[in-house]
Amino acid sequence: MAENEIVAGWFEPGEAMPADPRLAGTAIADSVVDLIGNTPLVRMRRIMETEGITSLLCMKMETTNPGGSAKDRPALEMILAAEREGLLRPGGTIVEPTSGNTGVGLAIVAAQRGYRCVFVMTDKVAPEKISLLKAYGAEVVVCPVAVEPDDPQSYYKVAERLTHELEAFRPNQYANPHNPVAHVKTTGPELWEQTAGRITHFVAGAGTCGSITGVARYLKERNPDIRIIAADPEGSVFSGGSGRPYLVEGVGEDFFPAAWEPELYDEVIPISDEESFLTARRVSQVEGILIGGSGGMAVAAAIQVAKRADPDDIVVVFNPDSGRGYLSRVFDDEWMANFGFLRECEQCVAAVLDTRSPTLDSLLYVNPAETVRIAIERMRANGVSQLPVCKNTPPFAAAEVSGAVDELDLMEAIHRDPSVLETAVEKVMGPKLPTIGVGQKLELAVQMLETAPALLVLSGGRPLSVLTRTDVLSYFEAVADEAVGRG
Ligand SMILES: Cc1ncc(COP(=O)(O)O)c(C=O)c1O
Repeated sequence: MAENEIVAGWFEPGEAMPADPRLAGTAIADSVVDLIGNTPLVRMRRIMETEGITSLLCMKMETTNPGGSAKDRPALEMILAAEREGLLRPGGTIVEPTSGNTGVGLAIVAAQRGYRCVFVMTDKVAPEKISLLKAYGAEVVVCPVAVEPDDPQSYYKVAERLTHELEAFRPNQYANPHNPVAHVKTTGPELWEQTAGRITHFVAGAGTCGSITGVARYLKERNPDIRIIAADPEGSVFSGGSGRPYLVEGVGEDFFPAAWEPELYDEVIPISDEESFLTARRVSQVEGILIGGSGGMAVAAAIQVAKRADPDDIVVVFNPDSGRGYLSRVFDDEWMANFGFLRECEQCVAAVLDTRSPTLDSLLYVNPAETVRIAIERMRANGVSQLPVCKNTPPFAAAEVSGAVDELDLMEAIHRDPSVLETAVEKVMGPKLPTIGVGQKLELAVQMLETAPALLVLSGGRPLSVLTRTDVLSYFEAVADEAVGRG
């Protein structure tokens, strides 16, 4: 081997990667792995101005990691630890059920260190996410989402089987203690140094809790007065929710991961999907920093914290990844309008709802386990012809709507078999009603009602009401009457 030849691939556990001696005295990194961490901290100048914030609010920009997210840090630490512990050997395989940022981080480190990566995900995952991981040379196994968790085809079971068959290492970021350690070793010290030890508040979203717990462990050790604030999607268990669904991705949970250490957090602030998304869009536009929904959630909480803080305080908000991964959702006006997060016009669907009888203000629904008889009684009592089928109790998330029942369909079913009356609604329900946002154009409602008898109106990502042809007709009638002075 020539003296200066670069050695790629495996190094003995704990051994530093051999640096090319020609790097000496230059600012050239030895490999992309060396570019993980040391992300910049930037003042949120325009947000401070527009919000009248007098403390110093700044953002830790994890987008400058090679994989574009904070997850590069735990990915590297978990792999290095597995090498030290003999769980990963030369040419070994990494198997992880992930579709997101952790996969990218693992794939980057695996590429440099010569490992095979197999990621397991469900068929619900957006195709770009699969392509992204494949672009890094990873293999992707797609499993059906519509199976029970203990079905051999479920993605957890497939990941388990592959780990066993390939004698692979499974990082399991939700339980791996090296996930928070990555932030104790890197993110925490960076924040301390970058603020010259003057940081007073740290605000971050929590998913596996690796970031917030790791940073908190380090900073509280340096100065126990530093306040640690978790931002959490409404519905997630960290802020006292029951784990009901929400739309922000990557943060919040329906269980408590191993790194959840509540004694380290001074406060947990719940933030709605609507506030998260609108804040992400605003930060991207006014600061020129493209952030995702979870970054928007963290900034929304940080704004609250920074407003209460003193002028000498330094509030740092952790931005985990870029808005680029969310262009077809948070940054897509149509998607946002359809969930009722944006208003497209003045005379929109909301105008029709405003003219209806106030008794229709609350959402009429039926639970999946209730009987057809109850559904029929509810329709009759309220003079409506269809009901959405929703799990749990209001306020519902859009994902809790599982179908709909319609007077006509039920009549036919009972005619065929009278025992259907005592059957659970979920056994006979039809597909979900098409959805429209409360701020979408009436024109769109008219067009959709040509084929659907009714629409489910969403506001702030939640079902608000059912809109029927009769509602729209009555509205048009009222508008016409008003125009000729008959109203
Ligand atoms: C996309 C994404 N993933 C993960 C997380 C959470 O990080 P952790 O898993 O370290 O708690 C965040 C935090 O905001 C996030 O936005």
